[in-house]
Amino acid sequence: MQKKLYIGTNTKMYKTIRQTVAFLDELGSLTRDIDRNLLELFVIPSYTALDAAARTAQAQAITLGAQNMSWEDEGQFTGEVSPLMLEETGVRLVCIGHSERRHIFGEDDEVENKKVLAALRHHFTPLLCVGETASQKELGIQNEVLRSQLKVGLHDTSPEQARHIWIAYEPVWAIGVGGTPAGVMYASRMHTVIRQTLREIYGGEAGDRIPILYGGSVNNMNARELIQAPDIDGLFIGRSAWDADNFSRIIHDLVDICLIK
Ligand code: PGA
Repeated sequence: MQKKLYIGTNTKMYKTIRQTVAFLDELGSLTRDIDRNLLELFVIPSYTALDAAARTAQAQAITLGAQNMSWEDEGQFTGEVSPLMLEETGVRLVCIGHSERRHIFGEDDEVENKKVLAALRHHFTPLLCVGETASQKELGIQNEVLRSQLKVGLHDTSPEQARHIWIAYEPVWAIGVGGTPAGVMYASRMHTVIRQTLREIYGGEAGDRIPILYGGSVNNMNARELIQAPDIDGLFIGRSAWDADNFSRIIHDLVDICLIK
């Protein structure tokens, strides 16, 4: 059976408003030939770019996401961005618990859970990121880490709400400059652990519907192999996606392999 592909990028603290709009324009026109019923293409730019990016993203059939969000609607929280503010921008997706939020800014699973609940309350799709650190992997506790990140992060969400939840598996040791991409066998095993946990939380049917994306040093060399693993429904790409031309090459490769056959 053909799988719907979920492919997207988070541009982190790169790309100004102008650069983001140009990137979306170029990416949209380079991928115009691909049926969006079969491809969920998303871009998660900086907050300041969201408003301008929304018009272009819509015209280019690219789903727009925010990199983070407060769990409060309003209040005395200097530097935070509320769901009400994001609603105004046309964002559909909210990235929650990216490894850089957890490990540089100290967010924990309870915080991610509040954000997941707030995102669902405001009808966003939370993209909850989970993943073990290098030392947790060395200790052999990666399964437990993933299971608890999911069980705490998704606490109090219902099988109905699960229709709107996406998960990204991003091992911390695989992300960014200096990261080593996970091998396909390893990533696939971890995706199976995630799938089993989602089934446990929501039941088989709802748990099976949630897309699980792999992220962490995805590039032109490893993307094809990763996407063919059974429980890998998509790829969440950083550096290799920030040039629209290269990103489009990866996307076309994946489409060829998954959708044409
Ligand atoms: P990377 O980033 O592809 O540059 O490793 C992935 C991510 O942070 O989601």
